Amino acid sequence: MGFPEGFLWGAATAAYQIEGAAQEDGRTPSIWDTFSHTPGKVLNGDTGDVATDHYHRWEEDLATMAELGIGAYRFSISWSRVLPDGKPSPKGMDFYSRLVDGLLDHGIAPVATLYHWDLPQALEDAGGWPDRDTPRRFADYAERVGRVLGDRVYTWTTLNEPWCSAFLGYASGVHAPGRTDPVAALTAAHHLNLAHGLAVRALRGVASPSARHSVTLNLHHLRGDAEAVRRVDAVANRVFLDPMLGNGYPADLLEDTASLTDWGFLRDGDEDIIAAPLDVLGVNYYSPTLVRDWDGAGPRAHADGHRRGAASPFVGCDAVEFAEQPGPRTEMGWPIDANGMEELLLRLRREYPDTPLMVTENGAAFADAVDGDGRVRDDRRIAYLRDHIAAVERACQAGADVRGYFAWSLLDNFEWAYGYSKRFGLVHVDYATGERTWKDSARWYRDAIARGPS
Ligand code: NOJ
Repeated sequence: MGFPEGFLWGAATAAYQIEGAAQEDGRTPSIWDTFSHTPGKVLNGDTGDVATDHYHRWEEDLATMAELGIGAYRFSISWSRVLPDGKPSPKGMDFYSRLVDGLLDHGIAPVATLYHWDLPQALEDAGGWPDRDTPRRFADYAERVGRVLGDRVYTWTTLNEPWCSAFLGYASGVHAPGRTDPVAALTAAHHLNLAHGLAVRALRGVASPSARHSVTLNLHHLRGDAEAVRRVDAVANRVFLDPMLGNGYPADLLEDTASLTDWGFLRDGDEDIIAAPLDVLGVNYYSPTLVRDWDGAGPRAHADGHRRGAASPFVGCDAVEFAEQPGPRTEMGWPIDANGMEELLLRLRREYPDTPLMVTENGAAFADAVDGDGRVRDDRRIAYLRDHIAAVERACQAGADVRGYFAWSLLDNFEWAYGYSKRFGLVHVDYATGERTWKDSARWYRDAIARGPS
């Protein structure tokens, strides 16, 4: 078998997508509460008010994890639950404390993400990620959580997919807070980087010395014309990768965006803070992206997996078009291409050879339904997971230092701007009753973990 000793098999979720209990125990609104309650922002007007009701059903969900046999669970902490209006909420914190204890009782390693897109609304009102005070507030939040959970969390992840927070949140506006200002998006990206560096430093001061520190990026695996690939790579991947891994911002990114901003928000010393040493880099991979040089003539293709008609999240990429990759797709419209996973992991090994990797998300949405006999026959998800896990294994055999794999997601959940219309879970959720039903893929994953996937 090609997986290293101690390889972690896990499943992942995020607070706003599963918890519900939006107003319980003092929780105050995050930008996703505001956004989802704004008509027209989320499909069918869905909100995370109830979601899968995990806040009340977490013990049942924990039992599911134990039955699946996963060795690690990746979840996120809601900033507005533990620090509503900036003040500590013992009840809010206690929820995560009980969850972490429950995981440890079952021998499941807790992998905690501090920020999975749900900025407290009060901080957005004060300027949000484009404001330089937000990173400082984030480090304070990280330290407070670290003081309580730091002796029990196995891996800390500062941010989940900061590209989405910055560019879908502030450039294309399809995610909360829904702003469409490219300079605000670049400023947000820098402040997210800074927040990450400050938080790693704060956590190292309070967490157990054996805890691992990480960040999760959604790296775009790009194919197509060289110049188009270079440009998108700069503003979608290297804008985070390079400063976080100690190389500073890429010169070509500063040039590509020079007509928009002089990067005056980047101050002396910032890059040293952002380069706080990492123990592991989290990688989320779903599908590759095909790009072409665009000469400005004729309609531009923009099959980039984002909403048609919306402003582009790819700031500084006016001369790029996003082409349709032929072949099968998931319900999200994303191409299914497991080789992209292997290629991406091997690129990271080549370019950042000293950084261990962890696949912190991978999975697929399909239109699943519970059949009359109570089964959910999701053969396409099984094929997707099997092929992508095999791609991870090939990457390991070729020398990539991959430490774990997390399926997205444990449960069907709130898929952001798509609401509940897209189902990514191993376990089906009936949103009318909260009832959970194992899909065939959950049984497959359980059996695969038990025998060692190969
Ligand atoms: C990435 C995000 O981290 C997660 O929240 C989302 O549901 C999945 N990808 C699927 O789009």
